[in-house]
Amino acid sequence: MNNNEIKDKLVLALDVEDINEAKKLVDDLSSYIGTFKVGLQLFCGYGLEIINYIKQKNSNFFLDVKLHDIPNTVEHASYNVIKNGANFFNVHATGGIEMMKAARKGADEAAEKYNRKKPLILAVTVLTSISQEVLSNELSNNKTVEEFVIQLAKNAKIAGLNGVVASAKELKAIKRELGSDFKVLTPGIRPKWSLKDDQQRIATPNSAIQDGADFIVLGRAITKAPDRIEAIEKIYEEIKEGK
Ligand code: C5P
Repeated sequence: MNNNEIKDKLVLALDVEDINEAKKLVDDLSSYIGTFKVGLQLFCGYGLEIINYIKQKNSNFFLDVKLHDIPNTVEHASYNVIKNGANFFNVHATGGIEMMKAARKGADEAAEKYNRKKPLILAVTVLTSISQEVLSNELSNNKTVEEFVIQLAKNAKIAGLNGVVASAKELKAIKRELGSDFKVLTPGIRPKWSLKDDQQRIATPNSAIQDGADFIVLGRAITKAPDRIEAIEKIYEEIKEGK
């Protein structure tokens, strides 16, 4: 895998409190990272300011907003997400097929109107914070987490979404059931030399990519590293060497 192919797969989670820190991460890492992910923390704090900064750098911009509402609202929100410069965002698959179709429609209409590339829309299936016990007892769902993840991924595909967010544990099953073109973005990535933090189901960057991840989310492994450039270069080396 060459440097550009690796860069395209890397997503950096800008989970920081301060806008200047987010901007510094974008400045320092935009030559290594293909996509910057802005989550609710930063977006609710600073909105369009961080979006415009990322856009200037020509990086992909993933708005991790996990939309979940009635189809009409999601359609118009998706339109605005693309209008405002994200080319990558997500919705909750539990909102249903009609809602996901509405996201596709709104996003594609904005991309056409504003001459943007085709938006990538991923579905969040079952949050990793939902255990089997919560799914069965609190949510009265009689499926296993894995069965439910696969069903929701199938719904996302029917609705025309590009893929799903899933842990490394679910990666192979999703690719097997949904096909290799159906994209999977995998968080919970930790190189061997990095702290696990609060993540339970972790994989190394190389193993997630070997198992078929199209995108891997790097967060604290990079943002909290004593030397961020050294850390990202080490990850490139490990992916290239397949270890
Ligand atoms: O710092 P760390 O690598 O744990 O960050 C992971 C990122 O991926 C965070 O932005 C987190 O919200 C996100 N994420 C996750 N697990 C999921 C879905 C998203 O950790 N199931």
